[in-house]
Amino acid sequence: MRANGGFKKLTERYLFKEASERAERFKAARPDVKLCRLGIGDATLPVPSFVAEAGAVAAYELTKKNGFRGYPPANGYPFLISAVVDYYAERGVEIFPDEVFISDGAKSDIAAAFDLLERGSVVALADPTYPAYADMAAIKGMRTTTFRADEENGFLPKPSGEAFDAVILCSPSNPTGAAYTAAQLEEWAAYASRIGAIIVFDAAYESFARAGAARSIYEARGAKSVAIEIGSLSKSFGFTGLRCGYTIVPRETGALRFLWDRRKAACFNGVSYVTQRMAEAALKNPEAAGANARVYQANAAFLAEELRSYGLRVWGGESAPYVWLKTNEDSAAAFERLLNRGVVTTPGSGFGASGDGFLRLSAFCPREELIAAAAEIRAAYAPT
Ligand code: MLT
Repeated sequence: MRANGGFKKLTERYLFKEASERAERFKAARPDVKLCRLGIGDATLPVPSFVAEAGAVAAYELTKKNGFRGYPPANGYPFLISAVVDYYAERGVEIFPDEVFISDGAKSDIAAAFDLLERGSVVALADPTYPAYADMAAIKGMRTTTFRADEENGFLPKPSGEAFDAVILCSPSNPTGAAYTAAQLEEWAAYASRIGAIIVFDAAYESFARAGAARSIYEARGAKSVAIEIGSLSKSFGFTGLRCGYTIVPRETGALRFLWDRRKAACFNGVSYVTQRMAEAALKNPEAAGANARVYQANAAFLAEELRSYGLRVWGGESAPYVWLKTNEDSAAAFERLLNRGVVTTPGSGFGASGDGFLRLSAFCPREELIAAAAEIRAAYAPT
């Protein structure tokens, strides 16, 4: 066989795997140092019991003759689709059940979005951005172009005349935490419509958005005809292990919705009934189910504030579970410097060339670890 040449464009290991393996090697070599894990953004707090109970009841239903279920509908059970519709309605965004497609999380559906495009299409990405986008684009035979996200534009690039077939926008952003307003997204929607492109809006961090920032691209006028929105319960409701998300493909996108539906039928066998019942419980009670996310958010705000008080330059922290720290040295050296002090981070350069000189600090760990990490970061970088 001839292997997919797209893999040649990938780094040998996925960013977060590489960083955590380096941390494990350090731990093995230095068991005396207690690690502060500010690397991967993975939920650490237990799921609320009412969510677990919904899963337990659903699992038990399957033991009954009239409760047993085989394959789930590829697009999701109506009860969860309706919970997603209501979740949007509570924020004043109207979507319809036939626009909602239940998924096993954002990552799979972002990869799926590339299947809508002809091979060789041009996908525009922010730089820095979530590294899986570029990996997926390479595997799916896309070409990429980047928009620089930097201090000058507040890490929120605007369309600036480039040609592309699709753009991926993540807001609030992983890794910088910068978040677009509806008015800024309206500019993107107008631009995409002018050049005949689609927007793939990654809303995985929507529940972290602060007042004034958009939680959905559909808060922007004109977005429904050009944007698909990919949502996830992972970070907002602690579903990183349970796996559930949803994608909105509006009726206004015309043929796209039929392609999405057709692709799902061909490539996906749905999310388990048990998980969908748990997701329904979470979406129907987002405040209680999202209590852990508020802890991560408060952690990030605390860490950002702490580092700022030492005179360090940081972004994010208020609108994301991440802090984006400027280190004034290359990211690889900064990663190594902090790892040697027991602080695991993610090098900014792993999110794109423009991320060099930064580190991403994730705030999913216990507060004590953040306090210890802040002290180490101060010792390593704070002006004296
Ligand atoms: C992260 O940004 O830490 C990710 O969400 C981990 C991943 O899923 O790749």
